[in-house]
Amino acid sequence: MSETRPRVLATRRYPPEIEARLEREFQATLNETDRILSPDELVASCREHDAVLCCPSERFSREVLEQVTGSIGIVATLSVGYEHIDVPAARDVGIVVTYTPDVLTDATADTAMLCILAAARRGAECDRFVRSGRWDRWHTMLMLGIHVSGKRLGILGMGRIGRALARRARGFDMEVHYHNRRRLPADQEQGATFHADPAELLAVSDFFSINCPSTPETVKFLDAERIEMLPAGAIVVNTARGNIVDDEALVAALRSGRVAAAGLDVFDNEPNLHPGYLDLENAFLLPHVGSATHETRMAMGATCLDNLAAFFAGRPCPQALT
Ligand code: DGY
Repeated sequence: MSETRPRVLATRRYPPEIEARLEREFQATLNETDRILSPDELVASCREHDAVLCCPSERFSREVLEQVTGSIGIVATLSVGYEHIDVPAARDVGIVVTYTPDVLTDATADTAMLCILAAARRGAECDRFVRSGRWDRWHTMLMLGIHVSGKRLGILGMGRIGRALARRARGFDMEVHYHNRRRLPADQEQGATFHADPAELLAVSDFFSINCPSTPETVKFLDAERIEMLPAGAIVVNTARGNIVDDEALVAALRSGRVAAAGLDVFDNEPNLHPGYLDLENAFLLPHVGSATHETRMAMGATCLDNLAAFFAGRPCPQALT
């Protein structure tokens, strides 16, 4: 009997339990080497499949989508960010796009809080200091950091992750301020102060956390001019997308002390980040691990598979963008 299960291309390695379920439910093509496919390889491979399970390392531009329509019916991305997929183009060519909101909210908000604390309290620098063997005694002035309690946290983008960060920050007695395209209803605002003008938010942000998606409007939002609007010695945190920050400007501000410290999980052109960050003691750097917990990755994978299953059963996909 010929195989009738839909053919699903998995572009990268995914957790073993997710790949096992993929193989049980579909004719799965796994990427054993985890090598990132070139756009041409992606197109060629997609043409031999009915669906694709991808992540932000693959770019589904209009050009790619136009070449794969007719074979691929659905692109399920294992991410909440979808700037790597031209969603209007997918809609035009009739390809369903699904993503993984909700399940990674807590893990990513935890990472933002980690960045706030580590940047303020010199987490990575302290660790390097202990390992270096230079620690010879307790000292009243050793590794003094910046107090978090009572400080103003400005959140740019008060979606699910921004709101989850606000909840955590309140637990640390921070005063929450935010800018969002729309003001939130009071039950979601939970006492946070809304600033319709992002410049006003910057002016009150002792800590400034980026939690908005990367869009043409937000690319390079935090540039030299806006950094000057922050209080002197502010701390900058980014767990959203690297291209929202002008790296040249932030590196210069960290060097001069205009910005006291930064906690960054994402970088423009990652993993080839601006080299200026690498020798800055006041930059706490993470390799884009915002949602990287076992539990979250499993939930993200399950979300993708549930969407694929719904699509091939002729049901609406629960997390569809198109
Ligand atoms: C997301 O889900 O968008 C994470 O940043 C992984 O890319």
